[in-house]
Amino acid sequence: MDARIKKKELDWAELGFQYHKTDYRFRAIHREGGWQDGELLGDEIIPVHEGAPSLHYAQQCFEGMKAQTAADGRILLFRPRLNSERMNQAASRLLMPEVPEEMFIRAVEETVRANYPWVPPYGSGASLYIRPMLIGVGENLGLKPAQQYEFRVFVSPVGPYYKQAGLAPISLAVSDIDRAAPNGTGSYKVGANYAGGLLATVRAQQLGANEALYLDSAEGRYIDEAGSANIIIALKDGSLVTPASRAILPSITRRSLMHIAAQELHMDTAERPIELRQEFASFAELGACGTAAVLSPVGKVWFDDSWHLVGGEGQNVSPIMQKLYDTLIGIQRGDLEDSFGWLHEVSI
Ligand SMILES: Cc1ncc(COP(=O)(O)O)c(C=O)c1O
Repeated sequence: MDARIKKKELDWAELGFQYHKTDYRFRAIHREGGWQDGELLGDEIIPVHEGAPSLHYAQQCFEGMKAQTAADGRILLFRPRLNSERMNQAASRLLMPEVPEEMFIRAVEETVRANYPWVPPYGSGASLYIRPMLIGVGENLGLKPAQQYEFRVFVSPVGPYYKQAGLAPISLAVSDIDRAAPNGTGSYKVGANYAGGLLATVRAQQLGANEALYLDSAEGRYIDEAGSANIIIALKDGSLVTPASRAILPSITRRSLMHIAAQELHMDTAERPIELRQEFASFAELGACGTAAVLSPVGKVWFDDSWHLVGGEGQNVSPIMQKLYDTLIGIQRGDLEDSFGWLHEVSI
């Protein structure tokens, strides 16, 4: 494709995290034991049989990733093989066929390339969100796996996930609704987890928070994660901790931030159970991290009927989260050296 093709005339800086129809999406069908090669389509509507197991029994999973434009014009993906691996873990858990890594990467690359005019330019603050999804389609009624599957990838230019600009702190409210059971599907990116969380998000927002914060569903004591982001915590002793839990999504952003903290900032890091009420006073900074959220410092948390300020009264800067954020986005945008080999260039 001619890389001089003109970009769309969007007000990139004003974009929020919303669906924006782009020109092409990738589709491949799995039937009778095998995947088709797949193709790019213009139509954003998916015709689905009324008996499709994805509609009735939530036999579906998805992924979320981003492409960024570097200063030299390269289009960069961030650790896309980890998204492929995670999608296949969800596929196996829900008895769906795995999407071969080669097809996953090819589909993402083709979709990004075909929508080049929609990839936000370097320095715009926006990025191209990529949504791969795998759904059980075809006729079915009883509770059993689908006979056919559809793998799709669509993209949408997006701005910040939370309304707050840049690194302005967000707030979280502990949910009285559970997100996932210890041996349930919490560690998989499956739609069912999110449908159950919609009410928790609304209740959190009614309290004035941006998102729900889930505690472990067995005891309601340990931090699990936020509605669409994992949690990292800088403790007053200078270390960085993150919850160990079988019920949370294994965030690629979190894994990357913990690695950056240990390797580049030389911090002590640990993944361990974190008891909210007992340990809150030892928190210096708290952050919500994910592909969409990137890394948002959390200023206050609602629990036990009141707001609790992270780091205590008068704490309104987050120097560690700022350093982690700068390093992460510096690598993702190609401004800093990719010393861990995390970037994947999409040829245009
Ligand atoms: C529930 C949940 N936790 C955490 C994350 C962050 O994961 P990742 O960093 O791989 O995007 C997401 C997705 O963004 C999510 O939906």
